[in-house]
Amino acid sequence: MATAHNALPVPHSPVQARSLAHGAERSSEVTEMPASDSVNEADFKTAMRQVTSSVAVITARSGRARNGLTATAVCSVSAEPPTMLVCINRSATADGLIDESGAFAINFLADEQHKVARLFSTSKLSPEERFADGRWISLATGSPVLDGAVATFDCRVIEKVPSGTHHIYFGRVVGVTSLDEEALLYRDGSFRRLAAIG
Ligand SMILES: Cc1cc2nc3c(=O)[nH]c(=O)nc-3n(C[C@H](O)[C@H](O)[C@H](O)COP(=O)(O)O)c2cc1C
Repeated sequence: MATAHNALPVPHSPVQARSLAHGAERSSEVTEMPASDSVNEADFKTAMRQVTSSVAVITARSGRARNGLTATAVCSVSAEPPTMLVCINRSATADGLIDESGAFAINFLADEQHKVARLFSTSKLSPEERFADGRWISLATGSPVLDGAVATFDCRVIEKVPSGTHHIYFGRVVGVTSLDEEALLYRDGSFRRLAAIG
């Protein structure tokens, strides 16, 4: 056991100390607790950098205007009825388009589509530049859907919930596609590929 403890990185905050101890021993012997029940933004971001996520591009179209953004805050809510949620910063260009159109599409990218992820996360790039890469089609709502994405979900907004800097949009899934391809991942500030174990 001593070896396992020595191998762990040195904790630098009470919250981290608590989680490391828990991870090492899975015991209930931990007494160190955070001084308050809130954490600062820097600690939150440091922890989030260790979370590996699939990468999606969320798109929307309102009239002749279309745009989108790269997003990892995307989640399945329920299969019956099919429902997804996305968390969109209020300042993102696509936020207004989702609101106006009442629809969005979620495009989970294949690893070879990493350039699309970069285009849609480069601040305020024009839609012409963003949609120049890849073949974009539409399903039920008219929101742009990327050919070759590992999974796409065409959604109609059923609820919009403000939360801090973001809007959470719940979407009823009205169109779907999927391909057996390797997903693009994101962790610690970098796009990554899946690797099999063994
Ligand atoms: C890997 C990655 C994940 C991101 N996830 C989100 C997200 O879930 N929600 C969000 O609002 N912005 C997210 N962003 C930031 C937006 O992609 C970025 O701010 C984009 O430029 C916004 O579009 P705009 O420039 O047209 O406003 C993410 C960026 C990256 C690189």
